[in-house]
Amino acid sequence: MSYHWFKIFEKEEKEEDYLQPNTFINFEFNGEKICVVKTAKGLFAFGDKCPHNGASLSKGFCTKENEVVCPLHRYSFDLESGKATSGGAFALKTYPIEIKEDGVFVGIKAKWWEA
Ligand code: FES
Repeated sequence: MSYHWFKIFEKEEKEEDYLQPNTFINFEFNGEKICVVKTAKGLFAFGDKCPHNGASLSKGFCTKENEVVCPLHRYSFDLESGKATSGGAFALKTYPIEIKEDGVFVGIKAKWWEA
């Protein structure tokens, strides 16, 4: 699987300037709206669009169980696996994050014709 990697922070230290714990920050790359959050378990990136009915998950909140809760119908999703932890068999779109010497990157899967 190949990815396009987009820099979201210049350096790991810089992330501290932007990310407050459990507070969402939004990015848009390749037309994909991506939400990034830092929790006690690490840094996570996921699609901002709720897989249930499209609400903006960045208007929701995080739980102590490392979930994001949708503001509309309150379904919750595990930030690590993307799996729904309430509300049915929906799955959140998740993105890998890589911390490198020159910054923090989020990966978006290349389309089959780009690979
Ligand atoms: S739109 Fe998110 S739970 Fe319904």
